[in-house]
Amino acid sequence: MTKSYLEKAKEKLISYQNISFVNQDAEKLDLGEKFDCITASYLPKYCTANVLIKNCLEQLNVGGKIILHDFIYPNNKLIQKLWNFHFKLLYLAGFFIPNWKQVFIDLPHLIRTTNWVKDYETSMNNYGLKIYKQNLTLGSSTIIVGTKVA
Ligand SMILES: C[S@@+](CC[C@H](N)C(=O)[O-])C[C@H]1O[C@@H](n2cnc3c(N)ncnc32)[C@H](O)[C@@H]1O
Repeated sequence: MTKSYLEKAKEKLISYQNISFVNQDAEKLDLGEKFDCITASYLPKYCTANVLIKNCLEQLNVGGKIILHDFIYPNNKLIQKLWNFHFKLLYLAGFFIPNWKQVFIDLPHLIRTTNWVKDYETSMNNYGLKIYKQNLTLGSSTIIVGTKVA
């Protein structure tokens, strides 16, 4: 993950004693133990579904859940118009926030072209996970939950 994000998380969560912060590649992450829940937001579209799911499964207890959330391009035509307008505004905002300018150019393209939901659904299916999926925020993001049943 981006190191500065991790530093920010450490800063914000300083009062919690029971959180560990590690900087590793999610596709190779190895914490040497098994968990009941593995979750990530805004990560799935950057990873290869089969690789991430296989790695998570190796570190998940039976009955445990993999919960993934990320942006999608909305299906509804009206929401698409709002979505496009929102990114036009962010594109303009990028002129005033130089660090974010390229993100506001690349992100809408990535969201339009990614097949992350289908890829993770296929992968979770292939690995025998029980799947629950729900669109959120006017269909502009999806949460997908895979439960390890055996
Ligand atoms: C859009 S940010 C989201 C950060 C955080 N999850 C949040 O919600 O604020 C995406 C993050 O995923 C990280 N990332 C991308 N591929 C990764 C990988 N294979 N392993 C770990 N982190 C990765 C990027 O470095 C970036 O920090």
